[in-house]
Amino acid sequence: MIVCRSASEIERLARVNALVARVLAELKATVRPGVTTADLDALAEHRLKQANAAPAFKGYHGYPATICASINEQVVHGIPSKRALANGDIISIDMGAQLDGFFGDSAVTVAVGDISDEAARLLAITEESLYRGLAAVHAGARVSDIGAAVQQHVEAHGFSVVREFVGHGIGVKLHEEPQIPNYGTPGHGPRLAEGMVLAIEPMVNAGKPAVKVLGDGWTAVTKDGSLSAHFEHTVVVTRSGCRILTPAQEEEERSPKNELLRTRGVHEAAVLRHLSS
Ligand code: MF3
Ligand code: CO
Repeated sequence: MIVCRSASEIERLARVNALVARVLAELKATVRPGVTTADLDALAEHRLKQANAAPAFKGYHGYPATICASINEQVVHGIPSKRALANGDIISIDMGAQLDGFFGDSAVTVAVGDISDEAARLLAITEESLYRGLAAVHAGARVSDIGAAVQQHVEAHGFSVVREFVGHGIGVKLHEEPQIPNYGTPGHGPRLAEGMVLAIEPMVNAGKPAVKVLGDGWTAVTKDGSLSAHFEHTVVVTRSGCRILTPAQEEEERSPKNELLRTRGVHEAAVLRHLSS
């Protein structure tokens, strides 16, 4: 069963997800050559503690850290370490938190210094594919409409979608129903309804879609060694679209229309801007 959340539950989800977005923005601003992924993890854990929140990933099936830090050909679930970021790397930072009984989850992929044109294009297309997926969300749409929109955009630009990992419902657990693949044909799967809360998270490879998990039992990497990127937002389904619960600060501020949309409980401005750019 897919749960539809009440207005007060959605406000609690909005609080924890806003915290996740704020910490991710700080981590993003901290990324530069020489910083280690353990440094980022320590900062994330400290910020969550200060906010009386708990890391959602730490201890989840034995995962050992607050963030997942996945560099270059690492797709997701990279374990923070003493590895220092180098100029030209790309790093996906994924973080989940629990506050007041509810969960938040979001990810961004960030350039370290100057990156190649191909890496920059991968980041842009992957983030756009997330917004294409979000734009497919509204009450009455079907779950597979999301993946179909993501896949269409990614493959039109010559990249590929990872099949082994999916987005998910989120609420009083990190992973709830439904599973949300980033590929497929439209018109299949459960129908979306107002108040459902979804974490949508395309993982996109520059080369072939296949991935494998390293000997640490967590780190997923591309089989062909190509670069991979990952973006994730948690959103609540509304009548006409969705409200992003993990907006980047700049997404909130950049749009003069957002205030108006927010009074309707809709964060569509960010979606529309990404689609028109
Ligand atoms: N955003 C990912 C997910 O929702 C991260 C999970 S990491 C884990 O599946 F450690 F919690 F598995
Ligand atoms: Co997730």
